[in-house]
Amino acid sequence: MTHSSSTQAVPNISPVPRHIAIIMDGNGRWATKRFLPRVAGHGKGVEAVRTVIETCVERGVEYLTLFAFSSENWRRPAEEVSLLMRLFVTALEREVAKMHANGIRLKVVGDLSRFDARLQELIAAAERRTANNQRLTVTICANYGGRWDIMQAVGKMIAASPGATEFGEEQLSPYLAMAYAPEPDLFIRTGGEERISNFLLWQLAYTELYFTDTFWPDFDANALDTAIESYRQRERRFGRTSEQLVEKKKAS
Ligand code: IPE
Ligand code: IPE
Ligand code: MG
Repeated sequence: MTHSSSTQAVPNISPVPRHIAIIMDGNGRWATKRFLPRVAGHGKGVEAVRTVIETCVERGVEYLTLFAFSSENWRRPAEEVSLLMRLFVTALEREVAKMHANGIRLKVVGDLSRFDARLQELIAAAERRTANNQRLTVTICANYGGRWDIMQAVGKMIAASPGATEFGEEQLSPYLAMAYAPEPDLFIRTGGEERISNFLLWQLAYTELYFTDTFWPDFDANALDTAIESYRQRERRFGRTSEQLVEKKKAS
């Protein structure tokens, strides 16, 4: 099923965001503040992931997308990168059975070719196992970059129409890594920074942005509810005027 594009048609809006995308930032600072090594923050961050997944299931969110490792995070010290990889492996080994039991479909998107064979196999097995689950789709963005996503989609789009020189948006979108999901309604970044850091560049065109100083390991059900409440207060106009929205409400 293909989802409609926010720039081509005004989407239907529901009070609970259908799709929440999160930059889970602040693990290192959370640990440093406690005189702990940065890795302790990443470990604690995995617990926050568990809580947020459970809360999304309870609130009826359909898609949750989590930025776990960016294409630029390879620039970090080698020990931190290898620790993050190990953490990813153990999280997959420990959590997938429970996710499957809870009706969660797991997807991992990004340039996975750079991961070692064992991790790639674990990812493929987890995706296969949970493929038919329908309660919540959790997408982990790993070695993901918004520019990588657009470029790989362009490559596939051109390969599918050899010789064509003009393309429309609707021809590109089916090749984006997350074509199976609607565009995010709500974007959350924890940890105080107010930037996109090469996350979903194309898909965030009309997403509501929410920034909080809370470090990711401290982000809990309450914090998620606060973000959803902020989202509910927004007027999503998609280019129209406020008056047009009032008219539409009266008519319905
Ligand atoms: C986010 O926390 C986790 C990853 C990027 C893997 P950080 O590790 O970026 O934490 P800070 O920003 O240094 O506090
Ligand atoms: C963004 O966090 C990537 C993830 C959360 C995985 P960073 O901490 O790497 O972002 P920058 O580099 O500070 O923008
Ligand atoms: Mg950071």
